[in-house]
Amino acid sequence: MTDTTQTTVLVTGGAGFIGSNFVRYALQTHADWRVTTLDKLTYAGRRENLHDVMDHPRHHFVHGDICDAATASPLVESADIVVHFAAETHVDRSILAAGDFIRTDVEGTFVLLEAARRSPRLRRFVQISTDEVYGSVAEGSSAETDELRPRNPYSASKAGADRLAYSYWATYDVPVIITRASNNFGPYQFPEKVIPLFVTNLIDDIPVPLYGDGGNVRDWLHVLDHCRALDLLIRQGQSGEVYNIGGGNEVRNADLTHSLLRLVGKDETLIRPVEDRKGHDRRYSVSTNKLRGMGWKPLVAFEQGLQETVEWYARNEWWWRPVKERDPQYKAYMEQQYGSRPSR
Ligand code: NAD
Ligand code: TYD
Repeated sequence: MTDTTQTTVLVTGGAGFIGSNFVRYALQTHADWRVTTLDKLTYAGRRENLHDVMDHPRHHFVHGDICDAATASPLVESADIVVHFAAETHVDRSILAAGDFIRTDVEGTFVLLEAARRSPRLRRFVQISTDEVYGSVAEGSSAETDELRPRNPYSASKAGADRLAYSYWATYDVPVIITRASNNFGPYQFPEKVIPLFVTNLIDDIPVPLYGDGGNVRDWLHVLDHCRALDLLIRQGQSGEVYNIGGGNEVRNADLTHSLLRLVGKDETLIRPVEDRKGHDRRYSVSTNKLRGMGWKPLVAFEQGLQETVEWYARNEWWWRPVKERDPQYKAYMEQQYGSRPSR
């Protein structure tokens, strides 16, 4: 018999960075939630990210692909809430090869939405989109109603999924909400993204490849502030609505790099200015008035959060050294991405 006092939550991509933080947060915060993680365990998804909750009595891990309807659809159809994080997520990889981004981010989302459309019990489908769908923002901040102008294959595939999810609300009344968060930071982020890559390099005195003039701006959001926003939106969001989630910490990459050097205790001789990313979006910035109007605000101060994040990577070498030192796929990517990249 189904226990009606329990809420069944399906988390796709729950073995990735944000997904694993969300699974941990959800199990801690909601004693009545049973959480199923569906994850393909690509290079970015790792069982290690869920090491402390793998055997949790209210957590169930399924190794599978969201594009495989035979695996994914029954899980969607038996869920009360779907939080859809699964995606290919790294802009640089999308510039090298976009196929997996179209497959997972667009087609995979389609598979989940088709199952959601058939589900009699689904109360909430959270489409995790990104602030990158707005494209580069010269001045001011993007509001939820602004035009989408994605400029790289990652953000374009996310924009496709974002609008596809919206269409399933408008057409079939699937209870979709769409969230567009800014750049996240915190523990368990794969060491290809700028903060964990730079911190782990600096710990080992390896130079950090700063793209272009270092003047590109990202708005940093602590992953737990993101989880708290999602929790609020699952409970109080309106179907068919879009919600921006931003940390309010707009920082130039060069300044971020100097903060990391200071926190790791290294000097600027370790900065290696390199050729810019193709089509590099100059700045992202989102207006968060809509979400703040619902009572959310970020709780983690940026400098404090950054310090704790650096300390986490310093304390948890068991987590990143096997990837950086022994994973041949990771080494091949690093060589392709940075090996022959000209210095500036
Ligand atoms: P991540 O790359 O760390 O994790 C992605 C996870 O999805 C991995 O566990 C991977 O194994 C899984 N996955 C990939 N393809 C899959 C498939 N076909 N089937 C099942 N699982 C699959 O990414 P992240 O940084 O945790 O991002 C999570 C979500 O948040 C993504 O949708 C991303 O677009 C969005 N987002 C990320 C940020 C950020 O700063 N990291 C900001 C805004 C939005
Ligand atoms: P990244 O972490 O890849 O996130 P996103 O591209 O989704 O914002 O990059 C964050 C910023 O850091 C971005 O402006 C590109 C820059 N960057 C570097 O300068 N060097 C690097 O090696 C990487 C990975 C990123």
